[in-house]
Amino acid sequence: MDNGSPTRAPATDAGYRRILLVGFMGSGKSTVGPILASRLGWSFLDFDQEIERRAGLPVPEIFRRKGEGVFRELEAGVGKDALGADRAVLAPGGGWPAHPGRMEDAGADTLSVWLQVGPETSVARSRAGGARRPLLEVPDALGMARRLLDEREPYYALARLHLDSEAASPQALAEAILKHLEEAAGAEPAR
Ligand code: S3P
Repeated sequence: MDNGSPTRAPATDAGYRRILLVGFMGSGKSTVGPILASRLGWSFLDFDQEIERRAGLPVPEIFRRKGEGVFRELEAGVGKDALGADRAVLAPGGGWPAHPGRMEDAGADTLSVWLQVGPETSVARSRAGGARRPLLEVPDALGMARRLLDEREPYYALARLHLDSEAASPQALAEAILKHLEEAAGAEPAR
């Protein structure tokens, strides 16, 4: 939802129509996203919430009752719709970018940002948030996180901007992204 005038120079000055926050579970996408969206006066879309709305079930229940395949199909559908959004901050789940072509399809009018997190912090943050991440509800959660991160990092690395999410607060990460937008607005247009 568009909640009013931007409090800073609109990012569209830099040619961006949306911001795509990618990163592993626990990287802060769902925390940084709403802060950023509110600062810009843009909408915020959390893919998992939209998947839950469409399925009428929480994510862990989709995994348990219908299987990961059904979750991934729903996720792909949400992603397709979301990449057409205007003035929106998008937060896909950690698995969405890890398919050939998805990061590239985001296009030059999307500012993609990788919020980097290590496996230890990911597992610790996921545990602190309760049993909401079925992929890490396994005996060797750290081993699983390491394996998934190894597979996914080449995709996350395609993002235009890389930020260390362990070294900064969600507020500071949102500020860093706003600063990047301001700098981009003063430089070459994004397309
Ligand atoms: C997943 C990440 C989760 C959620 C689902 C699968 C993944 O989202 O989409 O549990 O494959 O990494 P977050 O990255 O927001 O935790």
